[in-house]
Amino acid sequence: MAREQWTSNLGFILAAAGSAVGLGNIWRFSYVVGTEGGAAFVLIYLVTIFLIGYPLLTTEIALGRKTQKNPVGAFKALAPNSPWWLVGAMGVLAGFVILSFYSIVAGWSLAYVFKALGGFNAGDDFTGMFVGHITSVWPPIIWHAVFMALTIGIIASGVVNGIQRATKILMPVLFLLLIVLVVRGLTLEGAGAGVAFFLTPNLGDVTGETFLRAVGQSFFTLSLGMGALITYGSYLKREDNISDSAGWVVGLDTGVAIIAGFAIFPAVFALGFDPASGAGLAFMTLPAVFAAMPAGTIFGFMFFLLLSVAALTSAISLLEVVVAWVVDEKGWTRKQAALTIGGIIFLTGLPPTLGMSLWSNVTFLGMDILDTYDFFASDILLPLGGLLTAIFAAHVWKTKNAVEEINSPKGTIVFGNWYTILVGYIIPISVAVVMVWGLYTKLFS
Ligand code: PHE
Ligand code: NA
Repeated sequence: MAREQWTSNLGFILAAAGSAVGLGNIWRFSYVVGTEGGAAFVLIYLVTIFLIGYPLLTTEIALGRKTQKNPVGAFKALAPNSPWWLVGAMGVLAGFVILSFYSIVAGWSLAYVFKALGGFNAGDDFTGMFVGHITSVWPPIIWHAVFMALTIGIIASGVVNGIQRATKILMPVLFLLLIVLVVRGLTLEGAGAGVAFFLTPNLGDVTGETFLRAVGQSFFTLSLGMGALITYGSYLKREDNISDSAGWVVGLDTGVAIIAGFAIFPAVFALGFDPASGAGLAFMTLPAVFAAMPAGTIFGFMFFLLLSVAALTSAISLLEVVVAWVVDEKGWTRKQAALTIGGIIFLTGLPPTLGMSLWSNVTFLGMDILDTYDFFASDILLPLGGLLTAIFAAHVWKTKNAVEEINSPKGTIVFGNWYTILVGYIIPISVAVVMVWGLYTKLFS
């Protein structure tokens, strides 16, 4: 059977942007910006996105389109009888770990869709809802199950294209809602301190950990370093350009994150929340903003519904990486693979959610279980995967072949000799330095 293909270039951009834009832009971006001190982090993040994220995103798509394979198969195809396939395997592991906690947070978002219907009230203690001090063990587990069931259902029945068509309408609406939130946030009394936090860098607070988390966030938000884009690129037609599509994906993803920052930080400061309060930040702040605006019920309902949809289009790309691997390499059927692997991910998602209630005394380097999963996958596995992919593309597959694949057909962004220097040397060296330095500060200070 011929491999499925995206029906148009726009279809591919939407799918890849659907994978990229998700909880990473709103939930993870705001919480890491908050804990890492604000604007200086944002600056490092932006530099990383353009110097490392964009070239690597392009490289992953090219690897996928060239080989028409899942991440493990792609490395095997270009470097048979070598251990390089392990990079693909590491990506499969990262997808597995990320989805385990991603689905928990997506479950919070689903729950908020219904909470919003009852109206968010100004006096509510939002921290008591789910995040931070979970009073009941069951609701977050049930919402996690609902979200995994949706993800499994979509991957098993292959309705990915329908979902992608829907995101064509839903993503612009999410964008508009964020703009409404920006206006509301900026006009709250005391919003200025939040704008300053987000825009005025204080370089004195920067440590190796700041750099590591900025690199981790860039990879997480672009779905990079684990083969999600190798997989999506493998369904891309030869006559479609790569470099411009990648540019769109990076631009959209970054735009949503920055706008989300303007929606959240002014409100954090105006309403007196602690920006460093951790994984619950967006889930505490945004309901309070909805409570403080006219028609907040409708807006709140729509916002969390769209956030859940954005999370779903990212989650299907995470599950797809693991499923594509067992389907291609182990000969399972799609349904079998989606159900079995999705079921296991539901189970591996239980410790992070229990870490917020029953097991809240379990910590690792000061992180709870969810943060530990997140740190290990996003700040270690993804940068390591990206670093090795860069070395592989430039020195094993060879720059000339990578550039040729990226440039055919030529887009407005044309790749050239700079690729060798950037992807072959600057990216692997700088990511390696940041990882070693970041882990050192994390472990020993
Ligand atoms: N990029 C997604 C987000 O920002 C998360 C993701 C990471 C998806 C890795 C796929 C692979 O929410
Ligand atoms: Na993202």
